Amino acid sequence: MSWSDWTRGTEIEPSIYAADFARLGEQLDEVLSAGARILHFDIGDGHFVPPVTIGPVVLRSIEVMVHEVGGVLDCHLMVENPARHFRELAESGADSVTFHVEVVDDIASVVDEARLLGLGVGIALNPGTDLDAVAEAARDVDFALCMSIDPGYSGQAFMTEALPRIAQLRSLLPEAVSVQVDGGINADTAPQARAAGANLLVAGSAVFCQDNAAAAYRELVQAVS
Ligand code: DX5
Ligand code: ZN
Repeated sequence: MSWSDWTRGTEIEPSIYAADFARLGEQLDEVLSAGARILHFDIGDGHFVPPVTIGPVVLRSIEVMVHEVGGVLDCHLMVENPARHFRELAESGADSVTFHVEVVDDIASVVDEARLLGLGVGIALNPGTDLDAVAEAARDVDFALCMSIDPGYSGQAFMTEALPRIAQLRSLLPEAVSVQVDGGINADTAPQARAAGANLLVAGSAVFCQDNAAAAYRELVQAVS
């Protein structure tokens, strides 16, 4: 199955990094029951980003409950040597891997490594990264991630400078390549990012740090419908 088979046009992707890990299964059940099918999974190595976040052990614990309802796990690798982790992630239940272009010399060969393992592929761009320089390489991926925060932590404010960058990325890429946005997405910023051209909207604290994660997820879906 390709990435385009998973998406329903515009998707809100709950970001597991913002969940309460003492209640992870319960919170995932809430958002899956509310209709979420693409779950964002942030892997930080303590080098490319300051924190060490979550990895294959957590992925293996949740992949059955996500896959049995037809969901997918979209892994965002905030790490210095992404390809090193692809095989273990694929074997642990990852459906796609997104790596940062800032740490890779030959984007095409890293994309190939992921494809050989049957993974969907995204490339991620930090707020300061030049878009034109990577637009050509991004034509062969499933989606391009425009960061709207400096990566590392959930709960940061959306950088409005991301909006023209999303629009530029959208105009540089073929229609089949989705544009994803990650960081500070809430009911106010989600429609702005959607209007700029993003169709995969990652939301961490706006889903999991609310009293009712299911209601918060549905509110975001309605905000971009
Ligand atoms: C942080 C991660 C994000 C994070 C988003 O760098 O890449 O996916 O969980 O969290 P919010 O939506 O709270 O900004
Ligand atoms: Zn992320």
